[in-house]
Amino acid sequence: MTQSPLIAPSILSADFADFGAEIRAAEAQGADWIHVDVMDGHFVPNLTFGPPLVKAIRRHVTTVMDVHLMIAPVDPYIEAFAEAGADILTAHVEAGPHIHRTLQAIRGAGCKAGLALNPGTPPEAAAPLLDMVDLICVMTVNPGFGGQSFIRSQLATIRRLREMVGDRPIRLEIDGGVTPETAPLAAAAGGDVLVAGSAVFRGGSAEAPDAYGDNIRALRAAVAEAAPA
Ligand code: DX5
Ligand code: ZN
Repeated sequence: MTQSPLIAPSILSADFADFGAEIRAAEAQGADWIHVDVMDGHFVPNLTFGPPLVKAIRRHVTTVMDVHLMIAPVDPYIEAFAEAGADILTAHVEAGPHIHRTLQAIRGAGCKAGLALNPGTPPEAAAPLLDMVDLICVMTVNPGFGGQSFIRSQLATIRRLREMVGDRPIRLEIDGGVTPETAPLAAAAGGDVLVAGSAVFRGGSAEAPDAYGDNIRALRAAVAEAAPA
């Protein structure tokens, strides 16, 4: 990687009563993208929100709205999330039997298509889909909750996917447990978008957002220090 990875704060760790202000603060403090975690209480054991909320927060996002769908089924909701203003819509390969159709539908709805892989899924699951995706999201926790520990065995999956992607214009996003300790490992393995929830939003608030900036700079600095000169 020649360029430093993008930082995508996950609003799962922000104040749910004040998403607009939280997003504006995170962007003002250096966020490259805003990562939006949609959970259905079925595919993952937690519930967050649906298209109306995504639509409501859209106008606060001036960077890229990166919507991670942890829902099954996916297809009945693609149009609604596209209309809500998602730039990237990411679906899980494990969420149903027809991921190829799902990715087609996401692009057909005008969004960039992302494919997410749980820690139990081999990287080769992405192989038939590489020409249909703009992003691959490697889960480095079991999805459902913020604040979990990075699963280091996923580094091999990241490395393998980096090889498989080759020179295709596909972002390799790392999601879960990203901290100043683990970010350099994820980046060295080939990740070029780092999602971080608790590691960005800890210690601050929309009214006192300097901590968000400190946290984002700490992630960038950790990656830069570890990178070969
Ligand atoms: C986990 C979500 C992540 C989560 C990451 O299911 O997909 O995006 O917000 O949170 P941290 O960075 O706290 O592990
Ligand atoms: Zn996520």
